Amino acid sequence: MIRYLVSTSMLCMLIGLARGQSNLTFSNPILDRNSADPSVLRVGDSYYLTLSENTETELTIFKSPILTSFRNAEAKVAYTTPAGYTDLWASEMHEVDGELYIYFTMRTQEKDHRMYVIKADNPSNPMGNWSDAIRLLPDWDYGAIDGTVMKHNGQIYFVWASGRTGRLSIYIAPFVNATLVARPIVLLRQPEQDWECQGGCVNEGPFFIYNRNVSYMIFSASSTWDPGYCLTQMSIPSSKDPMDPQNWDSLIGPVFSRNDEEDVYTTGHASFTVSPDLTETWMVYHGTVNTTHINGFRIARIEKIGWNEDGSPAFPLPHGFNHAQPVPSGQTSV
Ligand SMILES: *[C@@H]1O[C@H](CO)[C@@H](O)[C@H](O)[C@H]1NC(C)=O
Ligand SMILES: *[C@@H]1O[C@H](CO)[C@@H](O)[C@H](O)[C@H]1NC(C)=O
Ligand SMILES: *[C@@H]1O[C@H](CO)[C@@H](O)[C@H](O)[C@H]1NC(C)=O
Ligand SMILES: *[C@@H]1O[C@H](CO)[C@@H](O)[C@H](O)[C@H]1NC(C)=O
Ligand SMILES: *[C@@H]1O[C@H](CO)[C@@H](O)[C@H](O)[C@H]1NC(C)=O
Repeated sequence: MIRYLVSTSMLCMLIGLARGQSNLTFSNPILDRNSADPSVLRVGDSYYLTLSENTETELTIFKSPILTSFRNAEAKVAYTTPAGYTDLWASEMHEVDGELYIYFTMRTQEKDHRMYVIKADNPSNPMGNWSDAIRLLPDWDYGAIDGTVMKHNGQIYFVWASGRTGRLSIYIAPFVNATLVARPIVLLRQPEQDWECQGGCVNEGPFFIYNRNVSYMIFSASSTWDPGYCLTQMSIPSSKDPMDPQNWDSLIGPVFSRNDEEDVYTTGHASFTVSPDLTETWMVYHGTVNTTHINGFRIARIEKIGWNEDGSPAFPLPHGFNHAQPVPSGQTSV
């Protein structure tokens, strides 16, 4: 009897292996240190992570064969701030027209935060050399952080956060190309609701995902330093012009927020990538393990994203460090 049971489970395992199922699991986080504002792009067979480093003067790229851990990642400093510049924050790598770019924030003593971009010498090698920084919006002299790229109906748009009106809000402008932003500049969304105003009214950290000809803007709401910091969503069909705020579907949210049962708080600043076999969408974000230690304790985590029947993204609850989850589809080791 015992021999029979053992051989049945062995057989199931062999069938599973033959079908390419591995049943491997992982638990959050994906790094064991302060790793705020994480962003991951898959290039070739590898994942490339950038984040807000503790030094705030170096833009480091971390390369890993798997999304579930960057503990042993290869590191490359792609850019170091010039003398007098600090706050190198929230870098995001994007592919545009076959080239690779990293968008990020810096500030100087005289100027508030401004957005910059660097370009890879070789788009198939993110660990290679990168260009000098080009300032975006050089003649728009207002604070600007968290810039991202929206790809919509064959056109690209720059979307970022600015406190120009007193509340950190989301702005949009068309790109001429990946390093040059055109006009006009439109205020797309200001925080208004109670849950966007926990500890302070903030909208920031926009990032786009696309499904069935709809562009979804996922962005963060409430104070960066509040445990209620959360994700919210606005969307627009690809047939409509995103420069007109009226064309956007109204705000839905929060779509992803603190999970007290599993000790996950301050859940925000999301980016999205794909599983190794390209069948699944995964979100990369930061969270904290408690409600009082936030600055210095925001740690990169991931979650699998599903899709609702109407094509919109379906967010899970944030998973705590003790909650094992299946690895991304196609990942064969941990
Ligand atoms: C994976 O789990 C399923 C369901 O629990 C099981 O039937 C299968 O044998 C497992 N596969 C492997 C390779 O362990
Ligand atoms: C990067 O630049 C350095 C210095 O110019 C050069 O020695 C090196 O070969 C370059 N690396 C690549 C991958 O092109
Ligand atoms: C964008 O256009 C400007 C002005 O024509 C040009 O100088 C720059 O090299 C272009 N950048 C890219 C990435 O094509
Ligand atoms: C998306 O739009 C294109 C062009 O209009 C159309 O051919 C395609 O069928 C649409 N896809 C879906 C899923 O609606
Ligand atoms: C809050 O987090 C900090 C940093 O991880 C830790 O030192 C502290 O023990 C935590 N406090 C509680 C109550 O969990």
